[in-house]
Amino acid sequence: MLGILYLNGEYVAVDEARISVFDRGFMFGDGIYEVIPVYSGKLLRGKAHLSRLQDSLDAIEIPNPLAHAAWLKIISRLIENNYPNADSVIYLQLTRGTMARRDHAWPDDIEPNVLVTCSEQVYTAQDTATAGARAVVLQDTRWSDCYIKTTNLLPNALLLKKARDMDASEAILIRDNLAIEGSQSNLFIVKDEIVITPPKSRYMLGGITREIVIELCQQNNIICREKEIGEDELHQADEIWLSSSTREILPVVTLNRHAVGIGRPGIVWQQIIQLYQDYKLKVMRAPDG
Ligand code: PDD
Repeated sequence: MLGILYLNGEYVAVDEARISVFDRGFMFGDGIYEVIPVYSGKLLRGKAHLSRLQDSLDAIEIPNPLAHAAWLKIISRLIENNYPNADSVIYLQLTRGTMARRDHAWPDDIEPNVLVTCSEQVYTAQDTATAGARAVVLQDTRWSDCYIKTTNLLPNALLLKKARDMDASEAILIRDNLAIEGSQSNLFIVKDEIVITPPKSRYMLGGITREIVIELCQQNNIICREKEIGEDELHQADEIWLSSSTREILPVVTLNRHAVGIGRPGIVWQQIIQLYQDYKLKVMRAPDG
């Protein structure tokens, strides 16, 4: 990763950024984050990401130190400096702040530590168009407030590691016999040409890519239902997709080593990924603002 980043009011070279070891994010995972995809220098749904950032801050009672316009200014400067007119990823992180010493409780006057980076986009949809992904089903070991985009990602990281050890690239998580989402993605299945995704709840992250997929289905006469998905239904799906800002809409071709549907990215996925690429093009061509 090259270029500059934003840390607590300053723009500094990436390898020169420093933060206290008493930062509560470092010691307790006490912070929240956002990941915004950037295509040709344009944010994809920047407003929705900043609004979800606010929701996460509200949920754990960290005050937002910056107004919407100030966030956009920082983001634009980093894109301009690091990856102008290219595809990249904006990462925003706020931790509760730095303590004088290690303490579970925090003082009233603590101020958040703010980090923004702009790094290279490492994934393109074409990467999976031919191959597809392998997934495994694992029990969801996370807490019960998964709608908060917290930096406390230890359960997610451990679940992903378990999936990797099983030669898969994502874990689909089960809670109370329901398929909820992936360790770093939202879940869609297709059964008899109907697209189904679990309804938003406290047990999953309300993904921005998920919203786009639902909208694209609605606008293009693809039936899409927000409905709970039983573990059995998951195994019987014709298609499984995983959506996220960094991997777009990923078709799953094996689940627990068994072929999903025809064992290749399905027909409805071909349709939705094309609609998604068209939508991205529209965003890239739109005037700023
Ligand atoms: N993660 N669910 C979880 C648990 C996630 O971590 C993510 C994204 C999503 C998809 O949300 P969105 O479409 O808004 O990216 C769902 C990001 C990319 C990450 O942690 O890097």
